Amino acid sequence: MPSFWIERLSDEQDLDGVLAVESESFTNPWTREMYAWELQNRSMCHILLVRTAEWHVAGFCAFWLVFDEVHINNIAIRPALRAQGIGTALLKHVLAEGQQLGARRATLEVRASNAAARRLYERMGFYVAGVRRNYYSDPVEDALILWRDELC
Ligand SMILES: CC(C)(COP(=O)(O)OP(=O)(O)OC[C@H]1O[C@@H](n2cnc3c(N)ncnc32)[C@H](O)[C@@H]1OP(=O)(O)O)[C@@H](O)C(=O)NCCC(=O)NCCS
Repeated sequence: MPSFWIERLSDEQDLDGVLAVESESFTNPWTREMYAWELQNRSMCHILLVRTAEWHVAGFCAFWLVFDEVHINNIAIRPALRAQGIGTALLKHVLAEGQQLGARRATLEVRASNAAARRLYERMGFYVAGVRRNYYSDPVEDALILWRDELC
């Protein structure tokens, strides 16, 4: 695993990095305007970044804290750095931080065909609690609704 560390998003340069990882990772990436809204709602919206010596933003996770729940909106790692354990480390960090902030459960949605992400979540104790039919576009696909209980 390459050497990396995890920090909170802090400035506009970080946001540029998040948008770059978004565009490398998703067919419908979130826009700068969507993230600008997130950043105006810092009590609910949290963004953690993975940094390496080479990459100012090597990956990120954007999540909400809603009452005692962590809602993971986006998580992605630069393609060149995937499958080396960094996504697992980031998700562990997010869940630990959510727990420190008072969360007891965590939830997210994932494309049914996203084998890498499903494997990651399954290993981290998430289970399938429901399906949203045809939730995603480009391509149209079901979303699986995942939960993890008892963060501690
Ligand atoms: C999902 C994602 C964040 C995982 O990050 P990562 O750094 O590659 O994750 P890890 O290296 O910690 O791997 C986690 C598990 O997924 C598995 N995995 C990784 N890539 C895989 C692939 N292409 N196919 C199947 N499993 C894969 C790993 O083997 C590991 O399981 P294991 O330890 O039992 O072998 C990354 O693949 C990514 O950025 N994908 C694009 C964005 C995305 O789909 N985000 C999720 C939206 S819900």
